[in-house]
Amino acid sequence: MFSSQEEQEEQEEQEEQEEQEEVFEKERRYLMPTYKRSRVVLKSGRGAVVKDFSGREYLDCVAGIAVNAVGHCHPAVVKALREQAERLIHTSNLFYTEPQVKLAEKLSGLTGLEKAFFCNSGAESVEAALKLACKETGKTGFVAAEGSFHGRTLGSLSATFDPKFRGVFEPLLLPRVGNGVKFVPYGDAEAIRAATDDKTAAVILEPVQGETGVIIPPAGYLKEVREICDEKRVLLIFDEIQTGFGRTGKWFCKEHEGVEPDILTLAKALGAGFPIGAMLAREGLEFEAGEHGSTFGGGPLACSAALASVKVIEREGLVDRSRVLGAYFLERFAAESTAAGSDSNPAVKEVRGKGLMIGIELAKPCGEVVERALERGVLVNCTAERVVRLVPPLVVSKEQLDKVISVLLEFIK
Ligand SMILES: Cc1ncc(COP(=O)(O)O)c(C=O)c1O
Repeated sequence: MFSSQEEQEEQEEQEEQEEQEEVFEKERRYLMPTYKRSRVVLKSGRGAVVKDFSGREYLDCVAGIAVNAVGHCHPAVVKALREQAERLIHTSNLFYTEPQVKLAEKLSGLTGLEKAFFCNSGAESVEAALKLACKETGKTGFVAAEGSFHGRTLGSLSATFDPKFRGVFEPLLLPRVGNGVKFVPYGDAEAIRAATDDKTAAVILEPVQGETGVIIPPAGYLKEVREICDEKRVLLIFDEIQTGFGRTGKWFCKEHEGVEPDILTLAKALGAGFPIGAMLAREGLEFEAGEHGSTFGGGPLACSAALASVKVIEREGLVDRSRVLGAYFLERFAAESTAAGSDSNPAVKEVRGKGLMIGIELAKPCGEVVERALERGVLVNCTAERVVRLVPPLVVSKEQLDKVISVLLEFIK
């Protein structure tokens, strides 16, 4: 028996602590140290909030790295998954399934691109896009942007710029020379023109660069690139794995400039957390039977989750919400960060964003801000060393964003 309430609470806290330590210890023993994790074990989530072992709440501005657009465990997604799981979990792609064709039809309507190929992740959708471009043009050259991130499989990594990711794996499948990937400065359309030659199959770009710190290209850039691709007769691939599904305040970031790619890669928010990727292509570009495939790609569970998630985004008006709340955040953060009277906050170099894809570039590395925000119950992520990246669920409230602003400014000031 406990002699007091206080003792009981202490005991419970100690047990929770021990449970957490056990997870850390097992991770050390049994997992490859692939990820640098924050020291918190997450156990449950609803909307924009997740809870750890002890029931402590965190406002989640990481959202599974721009995945949980409709929030954690949205009831409509949970229901769709539960009902589908009771009917049929997996069949292979040797048979037809209804969720797959329904999702393809929905995505075709939303993107304006005719046909879909389903896979299980972002990197896989990029692989499919690179292969399709090679197949359709008979060429294996690509032009990509400095600062790009397209994934970590050997093909997608070949189109990823940062030596930190490429490192020991060079020269990769598509080396930087000859029939490989040429990198040009992001935002410079003329550099794309100069780099495109008779070996080029496609230009691949993120309409806003995510991993490099939420880099927004100059207005008109994507349009100009489209014109260059048409003129030079090369394909244009947009990687909207991070920017898709309302993240930037439009269904897809390409809509900000009304530019249509030939091929579009999607993943992350598509499945609301259930792994799924999709590569869409305009009419006339497609694989034939046997040219590409995936055992799990477009499985009934993944497609049911994605269909439910897309419907939630529509029904709850999350695309507009992202646009409005993103603009609110940028304005309020800028005002608050300079409220002390000076013209600018020297700790903040720039605050930028589109919709709820926001980057706060600091003058110093942001690891400490991330740790201290976590202590105060806000999860944020540091990318490109100095950029605090915020990609909260699109269901986040204004009040929750106010809390994020005040917590971040406590440390940043
Ligand atoms: C733009 C972009 N492309 C591709 C990927 C790779 O996606 P995945 O991690 O699902 O393979 C990412 C992941 O961060 C991304 O942001």
